[in-house]
Amino acid sequence: MLSQYLYISTAPNLSRGDVDSILEASARNNPERGITGLLLYNGRNFLQLIEGEESALVALMVRIGNDPRHTGVSILERRAIEQRACPGWAMKRVLIAESIAGRRDQLERDLPADLDEQTRRIILNFAILN
Ligand SMILES: Cc1cc2nc3c(=O)[nH]c(=O)nc-3n(C[C@H](O)[C@H](O)[C@H](O)COP(=O)(O)O)c2cc1C
Repeated sequence: MLSQYLYISTAPNLSRGDVDSILEASARNNPERGITGLLLYNGRNFLQLIEGEESALVALMVRIGNDPRHTGVSILERRAIEQRACPGWAMKRVLIAESIAGRRDQLERDLPADLDEQTRRIILNFAILN
């Protein structure tokens, strides 16, 4: 059964290199585990969408929950899905535009079309928070 998780966590002051190494680990591990998704970092919080087989996601959430680079992992949504929203992305880094005015438009362009409407709204709200 395919599932999708959406969570936020807190990680003040991570360097660009820290975030790069998270994406490298994702690119290394996720394909063989059938995990896809997207990751946003706003300088203070992560928001990550992961999708795949429920058992693979549970195992990944345990590892992510134990990762000392962030705290306060908090699951916002967990649902069964018919098909992936991010089939081509081992883990896509979705950038948040500098200008607040431009963020919504950029995200509308960058987010996958197959996102559930509620999930899309949460991601957009996260990206324009600060
Ligand atoms: C916000 C966040 C998201 C992460 N996402 C993933 C992920 O999608 N896949 C993954 O393998 N590791 C992810 N990690 C890293 C894991 O916590 C862990 O460090 C990594 O899987 C270890 O991989 P390795 O054994 O290949 O070094 C994430 C870490 C953080 C802080």
